[in-house]
This record gives sequence, C-alpha cells and structure tokens, in this order.
Amino acid sequence: MDPLKIYRAPLPISVKALKAEVSKVSKIFPFELGPFASSIPLAGKNCIASSHREHYNNFPAANIIGNNNFEFPALNRIFNIFDAPKTAFRLIRRPPQATYELHVDTDRGKGVWRFQVPIVSGPKAVICLSDKKSIKEVRSEEDAYTPEKFRERFKNHRISTLEEGWLYGFNVDHIHTLHNGDLNARITLIIDVLMNSTSKGWWQKNSLEVLI
Ligand SMILES: [Fe+2]
Repeated sequence: MDPLKIYRAPLPISVKALKAEVSKVSKIFPFELGPFASSIPLAGKNCIASSHREHYNNFPAANIIGNNNFEFPALNRIFNIFDAPKTAFRLIRRPPQATYELHVDTDRGKGVWRFQVPIVSGPKAVICLSDKKSIKEVRSEEDAYTPEKFRERFKNHRISTLEEGWLYGFNVDHIHTLHNGDLNARITLIIDVLMNSTSKGWWQKNSLEVLI
C-alpha cells in the first residue's frame, strides 16, 4: 500500500451509539487497567486468533465481544464486519495535547492489516504519515514531534484529520505518529485482522481513497 494514501469505509453504526458503548465499557474496565495504562482490549482470548492470544496488546481484556453479548451491539457488529480472524480488537486513548513517538506497527505480525475507527476525535487530532520505513532513533521519544516538526523532518509526508465513525486503513509499516492537539482525549478503536480473500474483497468493495 502506498505509504501516503488513506482509505476509509463507511460503517452501518452511528457515532452516538459507539460513544455510548465506549463510555459504558470504560466504566466497567477503565483505560488505566489495560496495556500501557491507556487501552482496553475488548475481546477475550476465545475471540482472538490463536497466534495472538498471548500478545501484550490483548490482555487483560474487558471481554465484551461474543458470548451472546447484547450490551455492546455496535462494538460486536464492528468485530464481525471482517469475515476473518481478528488478532486484536482494542480501544486506545491518547491524552490531549500529546503525540506518540515516531514508530512503525510491525509488532502486529505478518499478514495482519490494521484498521482504525476514531470514536472521540477532534479536528486538531492528526495522523502524520511518512514514506520512510526506518529512521535511526525508532522509537523516538513521546511528545517530541508536532505536525510542524514532522513536516520539517519528512519531506514526503501526509498530515490528515481522521473523522469519527469511519473505518480507516493505511500503511503502518512506514514511520508515522498521531498528534492529538485537541483539548479532549482521543479514543480510537484499533482492529487487527488476519486478512484472507473474503476480507480483502470486502475492503476493496467498500473502501475509497481519501483525497483531502
Ligand atoms: Fe501506529
């Protein structure tokens, strides 16, 4: 995938419903309890591909996926959108006025595509993409890069706001970061999928390149 291209597909679920479910799950399983004290793995081990059940991103889990769970219909529906094994299904939270280190997401494993649905995300939360596969200081320090500094560092770059409620996909094997310049924490659903021909076909049929 071209490292500076972004694709997205519409979801048949309202942002309002997603926000309500995120609020509900974060009351029973606070973000501080999850990996890095800022995430909520949503799917228990029985819902995760066997290759990734022990992956650090996946436990402890809130366990609200599957098992005839009727309390979180929107999140369960998204889990089932891709007809393929999921290797992670988690919420992550980025505080206001904060930036991740420059990084690549190769720890997700081979054959795994990463998708994301911004659920709480304002206009000043931006994804910064570069076309570089490695830099000498990966992973860099947190909060070292503003979008302005990213622009200066990477001649070929793309800096875009991702809208709430859409399913996004882009290349995470190249150096990138997320800067949350908003005054609220940003909450995103990250979906890692062990892609097969059915799920690739669904994505090709439903996604469009974002040109703005
Ligand atoms: Fe990333």
